[in-house]
Amino acid sequence: MSATFAFTLNGRPAQVAGSDDDVLVHALRGELGLPATRFGCGAEACGACLVLLDGAPVQSCTLRLDRVAGRAVVTVEGLGTPAAPHPLQTAVLDEQAGQCGYCLSGIQIAAAALLARNPDPSRAEIAAALAGNLCRCGAHNRMIAAVQRAARSLRGEAS
Ligand code: FES
Ligand code: FES
Repeated sequence: MSATFAFTLNGRPAQVAGSDDDVLVHALRGELGLPATRFGCGAEACGACLVLLDGAPVQSCTLRLDRVAGRAVVTVEGLGTPAAPHPLQTAVLDEQAGQCGYCLSGIQIAAAALLARNPDPSRAEIAAALAGNLCRCGAHNRMIAAVQRAARSLRGEAS
């Protein structure tokens, strides 16, 4: 059945039309005009499509619109702005963490959720938080370095 689903998207009211079976990633990349959230496996197995749903990382490739209604979604576009980037976004550039970059949006969402609950994660804790994010380019070591750099920045330490 077709309906309109209203929710908060990157801090602002949003709504999208669709059926109960439509999933968020396609609405984001299509009608809502936010293409940074990637579609990879479509089966909760790669992490490319992660968004924050009420602050928790969730795969948007299987997140039905009826489960989004009334809740708060943050995509990687909502973490920061070009004028005021999130420290993760700055750190990814500083560490040249991306290769093809396809995984980067999901990795930054997973890392943002980690840093929100743990401002000083160990390397092992970062690796565990990113375990659901596949990177076919093998750039995980640089991703972890970027998360460590962002954590230092968020703690007000020199990088
Ligand atoms: S596209 Fe959602 S986990 Fe792979
Ligand atoms: S940088 Fe290419 S998939 Fe991760």
